[in-house]
Amino acid sequence: MIDFNEKTAYNDLNYDQLKTTCQSCTGCVLSETRTQVVVGSGPVPCNFMIIGEGPGEQEDLNGVPFIGRAGQLLTKILESAGIQRDTEVYITNTVKCRPPENRTPLSAEIAACKPYLIRQIQLVQPRVLVLLGAPSLKTILEEMTPISKVRGQWYKAQVDYMSEPLYIMSMFHPSFLLRHASREKGSPKWLTWEDIREVKTALDFCAI
Ligand code: URA
Ligand code: URA
Repeated sequence: MIDFNEKTAYNDLNYDQLKTTCQSCTGCVLSETRTQVVVGSGPVPCNFMIIGEGPGEQEDLNGVPFIGRAGQLLTKILESAGIQRDTEVYITNTVKCRPPENRTPLSAEIAACKPYLIRQIQLVQPRVLVLLGAPSLKTILEEMTPISKVRGQWYKAQVDYMSEPLYIMSMFHPSFLLRHASREKGSPKWLTWEDIREVKTALDFCAI
């Protein structure tokens, strides 16, 4: 697992300063082909944070994460558990610039973007963190096991911003669910609807 308490080069920056710095980043080749940097969306701080893979076409054009087809499915998944996307979750990605043709981000690109992600987590101060897709699972948990094996399981991490542990869960990526549409018992979609209810229970518990 990464060290959530790591002091990055951005340790002295507040959220607005981090956002501005990130928006002019040229730290990797993705900066050459992006339209906009997609830093993140949602309240800061926020009890609930989601980390996806990387911006797609719509996200690159609009500067907002998860607004294309996968994003619309994510919104539905959240709403099914009674989680309001605009006010109750901070959403970002492992890399902030769109990989060409939506390819998987390269490890050098993920590494270049990681200090932003770490500082973002420290500023958002989530109590519950959900990881969508293999790149975020690999980056945060440093876990090479397939999502299908670890999804739905809670991991705990010690963080400097609170005394309680941070609860972390991986879930199937909504793009994967778009390609596996079955809602049969035990299917990825069915499991995801179970997972998000579990997340909601944890969030309700945090709010007490
Ligand atoms: N897929 C992601 O992982 N992130 C987005 O922002 C959009 C699609
Ligand atoms: N494999 C993936 O790449 N993503 C998922 O969400 C599940 C399996």
